[in-house]
Amino acid sequence: MVIAQGEVWWADLGEPAGSEPAYRCPGVVVQRDAFDRSRIAYDEALMSWYDAVSEGYDDWAADMTADVPFYVDLAREADGSIVELAVGTGRVAIPVALATGRRVIGVDASPGMLRQARAHAAEAGVDLTLIEGDMRDLALEEPAALIYCPFRALLHLRTWADRRRVFERVAASLRPGGRFAWNAMAFDHRIAVRDDGVHFGEPVPHTVHFVVGDNRIDLVLDGGETTSLWWATKNEWLGLLDVAGLRLEALAGGFEGEPLTDDSLEYVFVARH
Ligand SMILES: C[S@@+](CC[C@H](N)C(=O)[O-])C[C@H]1O[C@@H](n2cnc3c(N)ncnc32)[C@H](O)[C@@H]1O
Repeated sequence: MVIAQGEVWWADLGEPAGSEPAYRCPGVVVQRDAFDRSRIAYDEALMSWYDAVSEGYDDWAADMTADVPFYVDLAREADGSIVELAVGTGRVAIPVALATGRRVIGVDASPGMLRQARAHAAEAGVDLTLIEGDMRDLALEEPAALIYCPFRALLHLRTWADRRRVFERVAASLRPGGRFAWNAMAFDHRIAVRDDGVHFGEPVPHTVHFVVGDNRIDLVLDGGETTSLWWATKNEWLGLLDVAGLRLEALAGGFEGEPLTDDSLEYVFVARH
């Protein structure tokens, strides 16, 4: 249930128990997210975007192959369960499951992307446990040895609070010594100038808009569906590790351990619980 800002909802707390006067204390439930309505609208837009591109997603991601061996190597080193946040169509989870012979748990909010993942996993003959859900609500039955989030998917999280919540859920879901790995775009003003307003015909026709004041990139399909990515700086990522109580193990500028420089287009992070 979602209580939108400004709405009043009466909780039925049953008969008071305990001694007076404590049980007379009134209780107030406050909906503290002032942007709740836009969050609902945002979540719906995100899902309809991914549902719209899910069948063409593998073409969309065809050039992204460098990350697979990186996440596979981490999975081989993991002594325990393996979880992919925002698993999408299983592009990374399936090679991880094939390489390790282990079941991978994948969480994603888009039914369309999960449908593709199910079909691809069946074709590849691997076992994925696919959970339709929001990574902000991550809760595992047993702590994981590795949680990872490829292809910049954390950038779909709109606010600092959303990201902090994911990092805190990850920290709570990792076993001691477990790892959290992810990659994210490093903002480059030259690319923003080059691509802002440009229409791309392939693989799915869309236009890119950079909204620098909101550190946001909008990807608008020709049909009007829009999804956004919010880029973050290195220090924001390090701050998220800090508040979640995770420790940075490695930060590279590419999937083969390239040093992070002013020209790096990617942050590749590995953290430890
Ligand atoms: C760029 S795709 C990445 C898919 C896959 N990990 C890959 O590497 O190919 C981003 C995915 O994030 C999912 N997603 C976005 N926000 C999410 C959220 N809050 N919780 C769960 N999944 C989310 C989308 O549905 C989509 O499948």
